[in-house]
Amino acid sequence: MDFNRTRYTPMNRRRRIYEGKAKVLFEGPEPGTLIQHFKDDATAFNAKKHEIVDGKGVLNNRISEFIFQNLNDIGVPTHFIRRLNMREQLIREVEIIPLEVVVRNVAAGSLSKRLGIEEGTQLPRSIIEFYYKSDKLDDPMVSEEHITAFGWATPQEIDDIMALAIRVNDFLSGLFLGVGIRLVDFKMETGRLWEGDMMRIVLADEISPDSCRLWDIKSNDKMDKDRFRRDLGGLIEAYSEVARRLGILSENESTPMGGPRLVQ
Ligand code: TMP
Repeated sequence: MDFNRTRYTPMNRRRRIYEGKAKVLFEGPEPGTLIQHFKDDATAFNAKKHEIVDGKGVLNNRISEFIFQNLNDIGVPTHFIRRLNMREQLIREVEIIPLEVVVRNVAAGSLSKRLGIEEGTQLPRSIIEFYYKSDKLDDPMVSEEHITAFGWATPQEIDDIMALAIRVNDFLSGLFLGVGIRLVDFKMETGRLWEGDMMRIVLADEISPDSCRLWDIKSNDKMDKDRFRRDLGGLIEAYSEVARRLGILSENESTPMGGPRLVQ
């Protein structure tokens, strides 16, 4: 029996709080905690395109753990506590702000399409965009005016989110540059973490090749979910290569399903 597969993990015994396209949230062991479970589902275009990619959840769990742990270590607040197993991590329960925050360093994807800028063009400076999280509406782009008028976040919270986004972008850009990868853009989510009467904005959700554009510095090869969105193939190979370069998979471990070494 393959215990690595989703259906054999003991998750059915826990209370399911929320199921998204690529992850499930379960009740955590203590109040104020949740378990974030990474599935193998790959979706694009608001789930109009959907496939199961064996091993993707395991890789994203590891890559996101690595990024969030490093951010915690340099004092960037996140929801991440620790990884529990191949597919799950323990996180703090936060009140998710219903915005997808996209940071762009290089033109690609919807920015290139919307503004007619050739993909790969370096932007004059990093650009932050907000999208309202709504599957029904296909995550429309919104401005700070919409965000404050509709009460999704306050002006102070928007300032905090933007400061956080810049810190995460600087950290990630350097991290990836060091392993020969260009961080073209990425999406992040934030949440309100309550500690007594105090509230602060923290990084939430995941950061993985599902939510970033990562291009090999030398070849410009895509090492992210665009391989799936654009039918390029080789998604697991690309995600494994990202993990290998970050030092998460050892040299001879080409796939995450390869053996028990990944379980700690
Ligand atoms: P975009 O160019 O399609 O707007 O995407 C910008 C970045 O955000 C890219 O790194 C992919 C990521 N992204 C998500 O993580 N989830 C989404 O639903 C979308 C549309 C983009």
